[in-house]
Amino acid sequence: MNEIANARALPRQLDCDGEAVTLRLMEAADGPAVLAFAGALPGHDLLFLRRDISHPKVVEAWIGELGSGLETLLAWNGDEVAGCATIVRDPLSWSPHAAELRIVLSEKLRGRGLGSLLAQEAFARAVAGGAEKLFAQMTVDQKGAIALFEGLGFSPEAVLRDHVRDRDGRKHDLVVLSHDVERVRARHAAFGLNDAF
Ligand SMILES: CC(C)(COP(=O)(O)OP(=O)(O)OC[C@H]1O[C@@H](n2cnc3c(N)ncnc32)[C@H](O)[C@@H]1OP(=O)(O)O)[C@@H](O)C(=O)NCCC(=O)NCCS
Repeated sequence: MNEIANARALPRQLDCDGEAVTLRLMEAADGPAVLAFAGALPGHDLLFLRRDISHPKVVEAWIGELGSGLETLLAWNGDEVAGCATIVRDPLSWSPHAAELRIVLSEKLRGRGLGSLLAQEAFARAVAGGAEKLFAQMTVDQKGAIALFEGLGFSPEAVLRDHVRDRDGRKHDLVVLSHDVERVRARHAAFGLNDAF
């Protein structure tokens, strides 16, 4: 295996500002740990997800979908899940070329670069899997998430007004950021730059 393949190999041990983190793909047996992780997150941080992952039935359905258009990377801190990154694709939809990236981290491990690392990993896996366009959505007040995705070359594409409703009944706007990977690749090719990246 070459150096780049090694750098992306899973499972993988990381040092996150002094915290040992293991990165690996989610498996069916991870349900209880994922539920504990989701249950400890502020409800507001879950609003960007289609469904409330603090419900056992939602996690059960998520596990059922693993491997069929859905791949989740878990970051473990000891025996606790500290973060997750999911790549969502639907090969039977009209957007088989698009992949949604969903990243969420425990509050304890934020601000140490782990969110960026999970996003980079998900980005690379989605592109390696053939995705041509990537997108992510989040409530407009998630400044860290917006900074993270803009740092990866995403830009705002749409705002969905009052699109999600929290547990207290308040509605929030969602922003959709996207990255047209194929267009960037085509531009590089036009300038003869593909070998340089
Ligand atoms: C988004 C999230 C995963 C970021 O995780 P993180 O580990 O704290 O992020 P990082 O430490 O890697 O920081 C990423 C970038 O965002 C910036 N950032 C982080 N928090 C920020 C904040 N509150 N305000 C502004 N910028 C912030 C960092 O400075 C960094 O920028 P840099 O690379 O230029 O230094 C985490 O905040 C989270 O779980 N948020 C709630 C869920 C969510 O909204 N997810 C997005 C939906 S896909």
